[in-house]
Amino acid sequence: MKNFINISDLSSEELRSIIEEAKSRKSNRKNLNKSSPDRDKPFEGKSMAMIFEKPSTRTRMSFDIAIKQLGGHSIILNPDGIHYGKGDETLKDTAKVLTEYVDIVMLRTSSHKNLEEFGKHLKIPIINGLSDQSHPCQIMSDILTFEETKGSIKGKVISWLGDGNNNMSNSLIEAAGKFSFQLKIGCPKKYMPNKRILSWAKKNKVKLLITQKPTEAVKDSDCVMTDKWVSMNDKVNKKQKKKNLMSYQVNKKLMTMAKPDSIFMHCLPVGRGEEVTDEVIDGKQSVVWRQALNRVHAQKSIINWCLA
Ligand code: CP
Ligand code: NVA
Repeated sequence: MKNFINISDLSSEELRSIIEEAKSRKSNRKNLNKSSPDRDKPFEGKSMAMIFEKPSTRTRMSFDIAIKQLGGHSIILNPDGIHYGKGDETLKDTAKVLTEYVDIVMLRTSSHKNLEEFGKHLKIPIINGLSDQSHPCQIMSDILTFEETKGSIKGKVISWLGDGNNNMSNSLIEAAGKFSFQLKIGCPKKYMPNKRILSWAKKNKVKLLITQKPTEAVKDSDCVMTDKWVSMNDKVNKKQKKKNLMSYQVNKKLMTMAKPDSIFMHCLPVGRGEEVTDEVIDGKQSVVWRQALNRVHAQKSIINWCLA
């Protein structure tokens, strides 16, 4: 049984096969309606349960559409509406019950441990729909989006600006190792990637540069990425953190220091006027809406990989 919890859990070959399947499924359904099933309906008669412990727009919508396109059904469980969320039923018992009803589970959680714990007791695969530590589905969609726009990501330069120690930056570091691209992170010392991920990066020979100079981080870049300065459940002094990150804002001036044909990515939701200006996110280099759409296509192959 295969779980999709972290990018680092899969081999480069497995990750590559997920991306390639996403590309071919996407092109094979060009003339179909948004929610019509793919011709082979690989998920027919199957279903997925999704639990969201945190808010979500894209992950909720894109998994639901992904499952429809695979020919299956989804059931979204609001933690407030189930015993587990209320604290009246253990995670272990909830996992055992879900195993009887559905074929796969997706969990968005505040605590990465919950994913591992759930995975232990489920007899069906589990997919990480974002945790405090990683956001692998988003990064897979970002790889797909990059390659659709600019070709193979191997050897390319990707820049990450702002909070260097969140779920997105962790998964991006893992992806840099697995897909062999160079990653340059521009962040203040206080928001550097944590020791655990840095030691993984070292062990896996990730081409990683961490700098406090935003201009150095975007120099020669093929793609500039950022994320909200304050993540969901980030227990910080928000005002202070935003002040500390102000010089890492992605604005037009900073974008001119990347390659002229470089693209801008953001997983969304966005803090407009904070980590990025309107001019950049609404500008020609931005591919953020395509990233959101590609969540559907990347997740379809992730589901298929889990169930293969
Ligand atoms: N990017 C992303 O995961 O968005 P949601 O929080 O809306 O799901
Ligand atoms: N780092 C952000 C990502 C949101 C999709 C958060 O966890 O809130």
